[in-house]
Amino acid sequence: MLAIMTSIHALAAVVWVGGMFFAYMALRPSVGPLEPPARVALWARVFGKFFPWVWMAVLVLLASGFWIILVEWGGFAAAGPHVHLMLLLGLVMMGLFGHLYFAPFKRLRAAVAANDTPTAAKQIGTIRMIVAINLVLGLVTVVVGAGGRHLG
Ligand code: HEM
Repeated sequence: MLAIMTSIHALAAVVWVGGMFFAYMALRPSVGPLEPPARVALWARVFGKFFPWVWMAVLVLLASGFWIILVEWGGFAAAGPHVHLMLLLGLVMMGLFGHLYFAPFKRLRAAVAANDTPTAAKQIGTIRMIVAINLVLGLVTVVVGAGGRHLG
């Protein structure tokens, strides 16, 4: 069971952090030539497809992470400092994503539906900032999660 839980934990991390990497490093620099109305509508569709996967990743990371600690290891006493740090970073990322989803993303969808391109572009700017922070935190969390046990 530990093998399965660790594997789905790593898969969820790949989906979330890899998706942010693609959005920030490949898609964002490629949408410049589009007219603003088409650009904001594209981002609204892209986020609409990606964010359900992020919610799934959040659930899987929490469920599998706590399973490993509580069921496999018998409690937090057996968890090294890298695991506490991963949990902290993970919770910060999840809080930022929750805010992003229920504040700027909600406003983005409303603005796109109302053909209000300047408001939509502003929300995308906010989302871009939060995703930049979460991308850095996510890459650090992968290092902590995958490499941390070899440092203790
Ligand atoms: C964005 C959030 C997170 C990311 C990106 C992440 C990433 C990772 C990665 C890459 C590993 C290594 C998997 C492997 O062995 O191949 C790992 C292991 C682990 N993670 Fe996370 N994780 C996150 C959140 C969490 C949370 C919230 C918890 C606790 C509830 C948690 C608990 C664990 C545990 C217990 C391990 C095994 C560590 C060990 O064997 O020393 N993780 N994580």
